Amino acid sequence: MRILFATGNENKIIEAQETLAPLGHTVEGLLIDGKRPDFNEPKELGLEAVAEAKILQALTLIEGTELQGSAILVEDSGIFLDAFPNWPGAKSSDVEKEIGLLGVIERVNKSEIRGAEFRAVAILSDGSKFWKSKGVCRGSISDEIKGQKGFGYDPIFIPSEGDGRTFGELGAEVKNQISHRKKAMQGLSNLLKSPSR
Ligand code: IMP
Repeated sequence: MRILFATGNENKIIEAQETLAPLGHTVEGLLIDGKRPDFNEPKELGLEAVAEAKILQALTLIEGTELQGSAILVEDSGIFLDAFPNWPGAKSSDVEKEIGLLGVIERVNKSEIRGAEFRAVAILSDGSKFWKSKGVCRGSISDEIKGQKGFGYDPIFIPSEGDGRTFGELGAEVKNQISHRKKAMQGLSNLLKSPSR
């Protein structure tokens, strides 16, 4: 299936491609008039509500264009720290900009609770049917920034399924086997294959 991923984050497109291409799908960024669309995100309502808002806005944007009927993918993701309920969650990118990764490490150090998880909610729709899938990746927050690979919180996130290094050190090959995004995309692909489709 040709999938158009409505996101401004190129890293997410690459990661989705790496999971979905071996499963027989192509993934490219959705462009409207040559631009990546921007969405209104009700972040205070959480990841799932944001993903639902994005898919409805994306479908509205392509209505009446030659893209109507295409398979549109949206995803919302974030990191959740065990020490703080639902934080930063859907506001992960804002918090990263406001206090930086060092600011996050500082808060985690003070709390002495290092557990964390990435979560992703992905929704695919052709305008009439909707498929939703979620992925979680457990881990902990490192005590310093380590590695330069990936994006966002990758340099401070040590996945439980890894070898003690951060995603920033491990890089795409390992991340794409165990990440929240990989699990959400894999789940979507399974739903597309299932007979109840
Ligand atoms: P979104 O584009 O609104 O879904 O924001 C996602 C934000 O969550 C990113 O900007 C990062 O701050 C964080 N995030 C989500 N997934 C990842 C990941 O795989 N690695 C690192 N940070 C992530």
